[in-house]
Amino acid sequence: MTKKVERVKEGLHGTIQIPADKSISHRAVMFSSIAKGKSIIKNFSKGQDPNSTLNIFKNLGVDIEYKGDSIIEVRSDGNLIEPSQDLDCGNSGTTMRLMCGILAGQKFNTTMIGDESLSKRPMKRVIEPLTRMGVEIISKDNHAPLIINGSKLNGIDYESPIASAQVKSCILLAGLNADGITRVKEPYLSRNHTELMLKYMGADITSDGLTVTIKKSTLTGKPIEICGDISSAAYFITAALIIPNSDIVLKNVGLNPTRTGILEVCKKMGADIEILDEKTVSGEVSGDLRIRSSKLHACEISGELIPKLIDELPIIAVLATQAEGTTTIRNAGDLRNKESDRITATVTELKKLGADIEELEDGFTINGKKELSGGCEVKTYHDHRLAMSLFVAGLICKKEIAIDGFEWVNISFPEFEALFSKIIK
Ligand code: S3P
Repeated sequence: MTKKVERVKEGLHGTIQIPADKSISHRAVMFSSIAKGKSIIKNFSKGQDPNSTLNIFKNLGVDIEYKGDSIIEVRSDGNLIEPSQDLDCGNSGTTMRLMCGILAGQKFNTTMIGDESLSKRPMKRVIEPLTRMGVEIISKDNHAPLIINGSKLNGIDYESPIASAQVKSCILLAGLNADGITRVKEPYLSRNHTELMLKYMGADITSDGLTVTIKKSTLTGKPIEICGDISSAAYFITAALIIPNSDIVLKNVGLNPTRTGILEVCKKMGADIEILDEKTVSGEVSGDLRIRSSKLHACEISGELIPKLIDELPIIAVLATQAEGTTTIRNAGDLRNKESDRITATVTELKKLGADIEELEDGFTINGKKELSGGCEVKTYHDHRLAMSLFVAGLICKKEIAIDGFEWVNISFPEFEALFSKIIK
């Protein structure tokens, strides 16, 4: 589907509710499916990725039922049953990598498949530690489809070479079912939703700096209320900052400090953002954000900041086109292993729109402030974050743009365009 986007004339105004966090939605349905008892999950994401996870647990015999628009009830005795078909992870890396950890310790074998993009993404990062824990995983040269021959697991001490919440979570989930102690250390802190939710549901888990330790535990079903996704909010934050005469409020945005790198960058750039009402729900911090158009300056983004904003880097590139000076993003090489090669994709498409952006091996540099000319067609590389970033860029282009493959937004954020039309004046 091709989407035409034209320049906003009068700024963005109004208040909107940001939909459910994708990462937390995956974990809510996964952990309540392997917990004993009933869990009510409120504000479950409507994105295709979390729904791939939900369907997998239905195939694994868990009783999951919608009780309202985005309320689901999960009933389980803590056990999964052998599925009668391959488990389809769709486009979702989080589903495939975290499921590896859950399926490794089962008494049956499973096969996981994914779409074209997911089948190209590296799985060695989870196959290697899980093999050390005692499971056999058969892959196509470390790519999906993955055949997991479930077995008894032993705990390991694992030093991860990359700061990845997917890798960390996979090992912790295997550790939940393994004999002995499982420890994971990462080079920088990645998102800790797994640690928070496992603890909330009764796991024997502790975090100490960059190391998380887990022992075999039984989880108990709990009520879980999911906050809004800061990665979805990032498109609205950026748009309000760079479109003149904007003033918006985003309600219920997740503010877990392992995810707020985008806010740290905005602050460094001189953005006018206020946090209005902070609260903690189901162990996660959230709040409302007020964002006004701002005069921005460039900054450097690297090191421990990267895992805190990894999914926001394409939209941060759009933001940086409107900041005075040179913004440099480094140490983000893993961006090449996402739903698309997000370094090449972001640089190629923003260049077409008139941005002064150059590719680095592990990031990019952007020279601003530069007016984007637009007036052309861009493509999304079947990547939801590219689709949404290009849409926001289109809102400031001089001439209308056309985005080919815009339907990929549905992977994480089907409400995206409807919410924008509420605040575009
Ligand atoms: C996610 C972790 C991140 C992120 C992905 C969701 C998660 O991946 O890019 O969209 O829910 O754990 P990595 O941890 O592999 O960087």
